[in-house]
Amino acid sequence: MNAVRPVSPGRLPDLLRLMPKAELHIHIEGSLEPELIFALAQRNGVALPYASVEDLRGAYAFTNLQSFLDIYYAGASVLIQEQDFYDMARAYFLKAAADNVVHAELFFDPQTHTARGVAMETVISGLHRACVDAQAELGISASLILCFLRHLSETEAFETLEQALPWRDKIIGVGLDSGEVGNPPEKFARVFARCRELGLHLVAHAGEEGPPAYIWTALDVLKVERIDHGVQAIQDPLLMQRLAKDRIALTVCPLSNLKLCVFPALAQHNLRQLLDAGLAATVNSDDPAYFGGYMNDNFTQTFAATGMDAQHAYQLARNSFEASFIDETSRRRNIARLDECFESFRG
Ligand code: HPA
Ligand code: ZN
Repeated sequence: MNAVRPVSPGRLPDLLRLMPKAELHIHIEGSLEPELIFALAQRNGVALPYASVEDLRGAYAFTNLQSFLDIYYAGASVLIQEQDFYDMARAYFLKAAADNVVHAELFFDPQTHTARGVAMETVISGLHRACVDAQAELGISASLILCFLRHLSETEAFETLEQALPWRDKIIGVGLDSGEVGNPPEKFARVFARCRELGLHLVAHAGEEGPPAYIWTALDVLKVERIDHGVQAIQDPLLMQRLAKDRIALTVCPLSNLKLCVFPALAQHNLRQLLDAGLAATVNSDDPAYFGGYMNDNFTQTFAATGMDAQHAYQLARNSFEASFIDETSRRRNIARLDECFESFRG
């Protein structure tokens, strides 16, 4: 499908909600709602430095990435049992299904858990079981991407990879997250080279707060297939050309960027410019429990603020399927569903 029929501004939110889409940038630990954090803390006898759900939610006033990460890692400390990881992912999949997400690739941060004595097997089997049930019960295809914490060493990343290898078949790829500035992609050159030899898909956060140089090295040193965030690419015209020419997907997270003060307001977000420059941008929720919205909130609020139209909506959803790590039959089926949605929608 090429030309998309115009849709009136009043009907556009319905189309955004209804259209099938893939989510490619969701940290599953970032989907832990305060209510579930408190329930799991009680179930596991973990003490929290917050008196109540309201108290915890009140702490969600971030000034930058690090101010968020401190609270995010504290929230993840309630995850102990296999069932906890299952329950967390299950809650996310229910939200995703309501938003017509038909495919999701979940980031997880094993080092946050193994550092507390939780076994790799506990983490992966709980998440994987939730992925299997998401397909069977909700019709969502789902897979797992293991993220290395970039504020830790490459040696620790290698140890984490080693611990995960017995469950290699339950992981489709690896990523790189946590504090970006001062931890450039090339710090992880050798471990990413090893993951590439193992046939894992490769992605990395780059250009969220960090400079365009980090996007270049994620591409040229780590050889990643997608860039997570990447919004700082706009500062570098040569990089913009490269990303457009090679159709490197950017997994953009507008509400995250707003809450972490990457942009002062959604109206100033550059998603529209990235798309209009021919980049394969997508919309994602990042850490929805912390940033005030799941997929459809990200779509509807960003479209309302930037004046994007139905053609942009189609392109974003289409990009999400083009950039998914799925087999070609599933990709074609998802794109056919998207086309069908746009053809039958009365705007
Ligand atoms: N950036 C880096 N690391 C993260 C993020 C993010 O947005 N969310 C969870 N870990
Ligand atoms: Zn992220």
